[in-house]
Amino acid sequence: MKVQRICCIGAGYVGGPTMAVIADRCPAIQVTVVDLNQARIDAWNDSDLTKLPVYEPGLDAVVARARGRNLQFSTAVEESIASADMVFISVNTPTKTKGLGAGQASDLRWVEACARQVATAATGHTVVVEKSTLPVRTAAAIKTILEAAQEEGSSRSFSVLSNPEFLAEGTAIGDLEAPDRVLIGGEETASIDALAEIYGHWVAPEKILRTNLWSSELSKLTANAFLAQRISSINSIAAFCEASGADVREVARAIGFDSRIGPKFLNAGPGFGGSCFQKDILNLVYLCRHFGLPEVADYWESVVTLNTWQQHRIARLVVQQLFGTVTGKRLAILGFAFKADTNDTREAPAIRIARDLLEEGAQLSIHDPKVVEAQISRDLQLEPASETDTLSGTGSWTPATSIEAAVRGADAVLVLTEWQDYRHLNWSDLAALMRRPAWVFDARAVVEPAAVQAAGLRLWRVGDGES
Ligand code: NAD
Ligand code: UGA
Repeated sequence: MKVQRICCIGAGYVGGPTMAVIADRCPAIQVTVVDLNQARIDAWNDSDLTKLPVYEPGLDAVVARARGRNLQFSTAVEESIASADMVFISVNTPTKTKGLGAGQASDLRWVEACARQVATAATGHTVVVEKSTLPVRTAAAIKTILEAAQEEGSSRSFSVLSNPEFLAEGTAIGDLEAPDRVLIGGEETASIDALAEIYGHWVAPEKILRTNLWSSELSKLTANAFLAQRISSINSIAAFCEASGADVREVARAIGFDSRIGPKFLNAGPGFGGSCFQKDILNLVYLCRHFGLPEVADYWESVVTLNTWQQHRIARLVVQQLFGTVTGKRLAILGFAFKADTNDTREAPAIRIARDLLEEGAQLSIHDPKVVEAQISRDLQLEPASETDTLSGTGSWTPATSIEAAVRGADAVLVLTEWQDYRHLNWSDLAALMRRPAWVFDARAVVEPAAVQAAGLRLWRVGDGES
C-alpha cells in the first residue's frame, strides 16, 4: 500500500506543523489539513507568513516551501476525507469540564465526531491514524464506529493506527525534523508499513518503533507523566533549597551528571504549563482509578498537586515580600506564554499567578512578545482597565507594549516566561523607572543576579536559598 493523499483533521498546534513537515519531506504526497474553524484556515492560508495561527520558529519557511505545492489548508472536511488514503485525527482532547469524569477524563467528543465523519465520507480503503493524545483503548471505540459504517459487500474498509506526537511547542519544527523516535501502534502490518514509509523519508528506520495499539496510546500518556514528574520533583527541591540555603541549579547540575538521571528537564520554575501535561496526567489518574488502581492514581495525581502548589506559592511569596499587601500596587509581569518561543497560553503558570495577585487587588502590567491582549483577557476572564481606584481593593490589568512601559511605576517585576528578551535587561535603567523599595521576582532564573542587585533592586530567584 502506497499513500498518495493524506487528510489531517485539526489545523492546530500539532496538525499544522506536523503536516507541514510531512508535506515538506514527501513532495509526492498531497497533504490537506482541514478544520471547522474558518478563521484558523484563513490564517494558515494568509500570504503574510507572520499571520500563521501558530507561532513556531522555522514554521514559516516550511509552510512557504510546501503550501500550494502539495500542502493545502481547507474547511472542506468531507471532500478531503473522501479523497484520502490516510486520515490523521489531530483534534483537541481537553479535560472534561462536566459530567462523568469531570476535571480528569479527556473530552472525546471531537475525536468521536471525526470518527463519524470518516465513517460517512471515506471511500475505498482508509487508514485512520490517531495523532491526538488519547486514553488507552480509544482505538477500540474508533474501530467500532468505523466498522458500523462498513456495509455488507461495500468496497469501503478501514484500519486504525496510533501514532502519538511527541513534539514540544517552541521547538516543534526541530522535534519533527529530527525526532527522538516515531511511535506506531497497530495490528495490520500493511498499514503500519505504509505509515512507517512516510516517516522513512527523513527518519532512520531504527527510530521508528512499532508496538501494539494500547502500548502506543499508553506510552504517550506515560512520556508526559514522566516529564512532568521531573519538573514537580525539581520544583519541590527548589522550595527546600530556598528554605535551607542550597541553590537548586547547583543541585540540578550535580544530580544531572549522573547518567542515570541526566541533565534535561531539571529547570525549576513557576510550575509546568501547556495544554498537555496536566490534562494527560489527570487522564492517567482517571484511567488508573477506573482500572481499580487507586494507589497508582494517587501517586501520579501528586505531580499535579505539587505543580498547583508551586504556582500559588510564588504568588503568596510576592505578597509576603511586599509587606503583606499588593492592593493598589503596580506589578510588572514579564511573560505570559507557558514557555518561550510560543504564543500559546494554555495552562500558563502566569494565569494562576496573575489571578491570585488580582484577587489581592494588584494592578498588573503585562508584557509578552507574542501573546495578544485579547488572549490575556480571555485567560484572566477580565478586560484590561487603564485607570482604577488603586485602594478600592479591586485588581486590574493593562497590556504593556514594551518592557519599559510594563516596569514604569512598578513596585516589583515578576519574570514568568523565559523569553530571550528578558535575559539581558538593563536593570539600572529599569530600576530608575520603579518605585522604591523595588523587587525582582525571577520565577525562571533568567535574569543576571549581579546586574539586578547592582541596580539596588531586591531579588528573589526560584530555588535560590541565598537571595
Ligand atoms: P488545537 O486545539 O490547537 O487544535 C485542534 C483543532 O482541531 C482546532 O483548530 C479545532 O477547530 C479542530 N477540530 C476539532 N474538531 C474538529 C472536527 N470535527 N473537524 C475539523 N476540525 C476539528 O489542539 P493541539 O494543541 O493541536 O492538540 C491536538 C492533540 O494533539 C491533542 O490531543 C493534544 O493532546 C495532542 N498533542 C498536543 C501537543 C502540543 O504541543 N500542543 C503535542 C503533542 C500532542
Ligand atoms: C510537552 C512535551 O515536552 C512533549 O514531548 C509533548 O509532545 C507535549 O508536551 C504534549 O503532549 O503536548 P510542551 O508542553 O509543548 O511539550 O513543552 P515543554 O517543553 O515540555 O514544557 C512544558 C512546561 O514545563 C512549560 O511550562 C515549561 O516551561 C515547563 N518546564 C519544562 C519546566 O518548568 N522545567 C523544565 O525543565 C522543562
